[in-house]
Amino acid sequence: MTPTEVSARTPPINAESEATLLAEVFPRDTGRDARGVLILGGAPIDQLIDAHGTPLYVFDEATLRAQCRAYAEPLSRAYPNSLALYASKAHLDPTIAGIVAAEGLGADAVSSGEIRVALAGGMPADRIVLHGNNKLPAEIDYALDVGVGRIVVDSLDELDLIAEIATLRGGQPAPVILRITPGVEAHTHEYIRTGAIDSKFGLQLHSGAAEEAVAQAQAADSIDLTGLHAHIGSQVLDVEPYADSLGIVIDFADAMTQRHGLVLRDISPGGGFGVSYSEADDPPAAGSFVEVIAETLRGRSLDPEPRLLIEPGRSIVARAGVALYRVGTIKEIPDVRTYVSVDGGMADNIRPALYGAQYRALIANRPPEGSKRLVTVAGRYCESGDVLLRDIELPSLRRGDVLAVPAAGAYHMSMASNYNLVGRPATVLVRDGEARVTRPRETDADLLASFAPVDA
Ligand SMILES: Cc1ncc(COP(=O)(O)O)c(C=O)c1O
Repeated sequence: MTPTEVSARTPPINAESEATLLAEVFPRDTGRDARGVLILGGAPIDQLIDAHGTPLYVFDEATLRAQCRAYAEPLSRAYPNSLALYASKAHLDPTIAGIVAAEGLGADAVSSGEIRVALAGGMPADRIVLHGNNKLPAEIDYALDVGVGRIVVDSLDELDLIAEIATLRGGQPAPVILRITPGVEAHTHEYIRTGAIDSKFGLQLHSGAAEEAVAQAQAADSIDLTGLHAHIGSQVLDVEPYADSLGIVIDFADAMTQRHGLVLRDISPGGGFGVSYSEADDPPAAGSFVEVIAETLRGRSLDPEPRLLIEPGRSIVARAGVALYRVGTIKEIPDVRTYVSVDGGMADNIRPALYGAQYRALIANRPPEGSKRLVTVAGRYCESGDVLLRDIELPSLRRGDVLAVPAAGAYHMSMASNYNLVGRPATVLVRDGEARVTRPRETDADLLASFAPVDA
């Protein structure tokens, strides 16, 4: 048996059944037509790529809406005084902003660009919350101009800056929330509680910076301090860290009420709710996160009852998105590995190279017939680390086949680059078999036009 054949000793990606993958990881109602071609949002993928080319990012509207409701509905039952803010860094375009807004969610933005795109899609300004560890003065000014709901203050220095800008502007005080670092840091199934976390984000509880910020904010006429925020990490696959972190924030709020007269009107445990990328991921349902957070808050009988803000990003949009790649060169290195290269890679999905993220994939243009082989799917970019899927079982592939990578909606296109001066892929939104281009593919001409001419 060569290493490229499937071996019982190798734990390969894709060991689970295709039915499970289609039902749980791909967008809702993904299936195959009579020819065995994958259907996304009612549209066969061969039609999608004939019209829009590859690589192609396909977003399914029904899945996106269902994920919004997976948060909004349990929230409205368990803690009605609440708002889910879609963390738009995960993936934003005006169409998606409009859908998320229509589902009743707000948006967490980290730049004037994200605010602008959210507004362009119809997101009400007062449902936008501005985050970031180094907001530019012009962004703070813009956020106040358009009337965002809250600005989340990340440092003492930034509190001064916002106070200064709001004073110069006159008018209403700037509505701010303080982001504190509660000493709980979670990543997947592991989380740690330490006295001091080395993080570029937030105001340290333990150093006294958080309390100093409360005192200063309470004393500043140009600042309206409405509450506290803490974000513990991303791709969190357990509910308990949220209860722990919220408990710490509430204890701190109590102390701040006693010592500085804080009235806690908003409270946020941030986002980071995990999704299923690989077989190792078994995320709790959105409702389970909501339930634990709501229970923790209700258990403390806060008076007045603060508004709860949560910030799901990937768990809203990851499953809605599928990346479609065309297979090109196949290189078999005897007794070592078979590399299947596709026409995308780290420039549209940096996550495997950046954090060793794992994915699954299916052959999408024909039925998954024949014996499977163990291959490694590599990107097209000039980096050895540009590997999308290491050791995955797939049917024998040939040039021209199409691979579909699910759970591709979050932190792919929003982190995409033009590395090697390759244009970024198109994105389309599918609904009832119809596809709408939400971002056109970048062409070589677009790239060239982005530079100053040589003789300028
Ligand atoms: C403050 C804050 N909120 C929400 C999120 C969204 O995280 P996720 O997309 O994992 O839900 C992030 C992610 O970095 C964040 O920093």
